[in-house]
Amino acid sequence: MSKPKFQLEWEEIDAEYQQLQESHKIYRQKLEELTNLQATCSNAISKQRKCLKDLGYSLNKCAKTCDAKDLKLITDIQTQVKDKENVFFDMEAYLPKKNGLYLNLVLGNVNVTLLSNQAKFAYKDEYEKFKLYMTIILMFGAITCLFFLNCRVTDEIFNFLLVWYYCTLTIRESILMSNGSRIKGWWVSHHYVSTFLSGVMLTCTDDGVMLFLCSLGFVQFLQYYYQSGCLYRLRALGERNQLDLTVEGFQSWMWRGLTFLLPFLFFGHFWQLYNSVTLFHLAGHEDCKEWQVFMLALTFLVLFLGNFLTTLKVVHQKIQKNKEKVSLMD
Ligand code: COA
Repeated sequence: MSKPKFQLEWEEIDAEYQQLQESHKIYRQKLEELTNLQATCSNAISKQRKCLKDLGYSLNKCAKTCDAKDLKLITDIQTQVKDKENVFFDMEAYLPKKNGLYLNLVLGNVNVTLLSNQAKFAYKDEYEKFKLYMTIILMFGAITCLFFLNCRVTDEIFNFLLVWYYCTLTIRESILMSNGSRIKGWWVSHHYVSTFLSGVMLTCTDDGVMLFLCSLGFVQFLQYYYQSGCLYRLRALGERNQLDLTVEGFQSWMWRGLTFLLPFLFFGHFWQLYNSVTLFHLAGHEDCKEWQVFMLALTFLVLFLGNFLTTLKVVHQKIQKNKEKVSLMD
């Protein structure tokens, strides 16, 4: 006698369920293996770091007394130790680690390491897009506050949005750094300083500063174009294994992008300096009683110095790297 239809259906579902249970069991086992491997690698890296640090001390001591032949050997080893440090940094980008103080305070002790390249790329891409959308919103906000509304309440809503935006950036950037991004410390600090600046502006808004924020939006728009261009090209390089897009191709695109972007960046930096000098003048005036004016002047000065000097350093490092590559190829 043939089985009723519902029984056949039930048996089919049940067979799939057994299969699912089996797959999930394997998944749990692999997960445990993965966790153990992660712990093994993290411990091995810490051990290597400690041994290399100790070796570094003894190498420095030996270098003072040894002959020329040994000195060359020591310099070779020291170069290899530096290379190893870079390799450890890349390895750690794929291993769970304890959050730094800031992330711990904001998120608690939750693991923020993304394990696949795809997830890392998607997160960075989303960060760049978030910056772009917020830049557009803030630019329109600044123009509206400056030319159409001119009312204290809307100015404060706008400044509150700025505080929220910069706080969010600091969190996202800390997560990116945990995932192996090589963002220079200053760009993250720059967003802490900007949070502070927006906080001070919550208590007093100035039309000159609003105008500056409009122009900043434009510069950030160009910056997005450059940075996301780098991101997509580097991903293509990683994925296509340098077949379609050569490293030289990337380098020449990067230099063209930088040459176009730099004048706008420097213009923005000098506008920050101009803001600072004007506000210092205002603060020095005998009628000026508000503490915010001096604070804003100081903050703009810090922003100018940090942004200008770090940009110069980044460009200098890129030129040095380029020279090294050219001399290696010769
Ligand atoms: N904010 C956030 N991340 C930044 C950054 C910035 N200002 N500058 C660089 N990064 C990131 C890069 O995306 C890259 O990330 P990855 O490791 O995840 O790929 C990493 O830091 C290393 O980048 P690097 O090669 O040093 O620089 P770059 O070629 O990407 O960019 C500049 C160089 C000069 C264009 C860029 O640093 C910049 O725009 N700086 C100026 C910012 C500024 O002054 N703003 C205020 C304007 S008034």
